[in-house]
Amino acid sequence: MKIIDLIKKQGDFELRTKSVTIEEGKIHGIIGGNGCGKTTLCKLIMGMILPDSGKIDYEGLDIREITMTAQRPYFIRGSVYENICYPLKIRHIQPDEQKIDAWLFRCGLEGKKRQYARSLSSGEQQKVSMIRALIFDPRFIMIDETLSNLDPENLELFEQVILEIQKERPVTWMLISHRLAHIYKMCEVLHFMYKGEILASGSKDKILFGTEDERIRRFVANEVIKMEGNHAAFKG
Ligand SMILES: Nc1ncnc2c1ncn2[C@@H]1O[C@H](COP(=O)(O)OP(=O)(O)OP(=O)(O)O)[C@@H](O)[C@H]1O
Ligand SMILES: [Mg+2]
Repeated sequence: MKIIDLIKKQGDFELRTKSVTIEEGKIHGIIGGNGCGKTTLCKLIMGMILPDSGKIDYEGLDIREITMTAQRPYFIRGSVYENICYPLKIRHIQPDEQKIDAWLFRCGLEGKKRQYARSLSSGEQQKVSMIRALIFDPRFIMIDETLSNLDPENLELFEQVILEIQKERPVTWMLISHRLAHIYKMCEVLHFMYKGEILASGSKDKILFGTEDERIRRFVANEVIKMEGNHAAFKG
């Protein structure tokens, strides 16, 4: 996929990208401070909002093969099961109940199938949101902070799931997270956003540790200090 000279104004914010290639079949990470435009970029890719100018070359990828999970998942009024079936229903795919049961079981949600989805805890909602995204075998998956409320064990579960999918039938991932340890562990390529621009794209080591750009160095240093702070608070 190529993102070509996109411009999108929203209030006093402007997203402005040069040409960026999102290489197929890789796990990409999008990092950058609050409000720099990460979610906006995902929504543009999803076609949920339209750019003022520029374009996205999907290179043959059908928009229905793209999915996005949000930090605060949105659920239709209905059960967990109905929500997981929803992306299948709109694509006229018959749900495979056994497959859905297996996902629920793997995520420790086997007792929640008939529960009203909006009454789930936030971590449970994030897990259902992940299952709902994966259930129709999309080829391009954006995870917008969705894993942020998961405890370490569940985060590891989904890291495992992502790596398994990559082994079986590689898809293109865009992971957005402020947890740099997770990003570093999972991603091959990173894109750093700053005030609506994609400042740099490259290998994770280059972006996190090999950059001369002061804005990126400051961001990484701050995130690392936060991580160590949390760690110290946890220990102390
Ligand atoms: N509908 C809108 N109207 C006005 N401004 C908007 C609108 N949607 C988003 N914005 C602004 O666009 C900017 C980019 O928002 P975006 O959600 O893409 O940031 P982000 O990088 O995902 O941040 P975070 O890390 O906090 O999730 C923000 O300043 C936000 O307030
Ligand atoms: Mg966001």
